[in-house]
Amino acid sequence: MRAVTFARPGGPEVLVWGDAELAAPGPGEVVVEVHAAGINNADLLQRRGNYAVPEGASPILGLEVSGVVSALGTGVVAWAVGDEVCGLLAGGGYAERVVVPADLLLPVPAGVGLVAAAALPEAACTVYSNLAMTADLRPGQTLLVHGGGSGIGTFAIQWATAVGAHVVTTAGSDRKLARCLELGADTAVNYRTEDFVARTLEATGGRGADVVLDIVGGDYLARNLDALALDGHLVMIANPGGTRPPLDIGLLMNKRASVSATTLRARPHAQKAAIVAAVRAEVWPLVSAGRIRPVVDSVFPMDAAAAGHELLAGGGAVGKVLLAVPGR
Ligand SMILES: NC(=O)c1ccc[n+]([C@@H]2O[C@H](COP(=O)([O-])OP(=O)(O)OC[C@H]3O[C@@H](n4cnc5c(N)ncnc54)[C@H](OP(=O)(O)O)[C@@H]3O)[C@@H](O)[C@H]2O)c1
Repeated sequence: MRAVTFARPGGPEVLVWGDAELAAPGPGEVVVEVHAAGINNADLLQRRGNYAVPEGASPILGLEVSGVVSALGTGVVAWAVGDEVCGLLAGGGYAERVVVPADLLLPVPAGVGLVAAAALPEAACTVYSNLAMTADLRPGQTLLVHGGGSGIGTFAIQWATAVGAHVVTTAGSDRKLARCLELGADTAVNYRTEDFVARTLEATGGRGADVVLDIVGGDYLARNLDALALDGHLVMIANPGGTRPPLDIGLLMNKRASVSATTLRARPHAQKAAIVAAVRAEVWPLVSAGRIRPVVDSVFPMDAAAAGHELLAGGGAVGKVLLAVPGR
């Protein structure tokens, strides 16, 4: 089969659409003929040599795909050849074919195209596992989500709005702020020109946000805690701003605050399967009802994967950037 590979770490130019081997599906696994794969920041880090591939995972990039089931390993009863699916991977998505554990697959939701479905698994599983399963965001509460124009942010805004939460979000351009408001955010803050702590307190009558989803880290830790309500929960999923900021434990105690930090990719298989099952039960009905839509900025053919990586790295995309297998 063909896949996007790279012989040495480096810039987008190292990516090559060439030949690669596909392993046979083991028990409980299926083969998916890939139609599209989502590009994630972890792919960019891995391409640069800054993200170790988890043990046993494919070295080929790609943490989420959509496509059609073409073969079943022994013991798989939940799927049939020909099913249209999307799913979460530990790697291997930038390819014509990929082997996926059956319990990490989801059906393509009603009303969603087969290519666009590749925009959903990573965002849905990250958002739901952190905001619902970890931080327990409830109807009527307020979520502050940073990076509202990102793949994660566009999904988080829609999910939180759909479950009846209020949303404050941050982004770095007027175009992204406008899109965040269209997606349902109540307050959109330009973090380059405005103080998101003051805007969050203003939007909540001084209470602060009940849940904060952070993708920045570093000095955002202190500011996120300032923006957090009593009994609030800060969840961190990325740390480009730094990993060792000072932490005011007194403030944490006074606010009775909880702080969590997670990565999806490195979770044990059983945890990922539980998240996928919960997403299918709780989030997929909202997608099928049209209350959450995949937000796709651009689709590049896999043999132009470098252009997709450049777009995501440049910060110009609103929502997801996808790679489609040529000819499908
Ligand atoms: N831990 C996990 O399990 C997990 C899973 C998935 C993703 N992630 C991480 O979550 C982050 C978002 O993922 P993604 O795929 O959605 O990313 P993405 O689509 O590449 O978007 C990232 C966006 O964040 C915005 N941003 C950067 N600095 C910001 C700041 N200080 N305040 C607000 N927004 C800022 C940028 O847009 P503007 O600056 O133009 O607004 C950038 O385009 C990435 O760092 C990714 O690695 C973590």
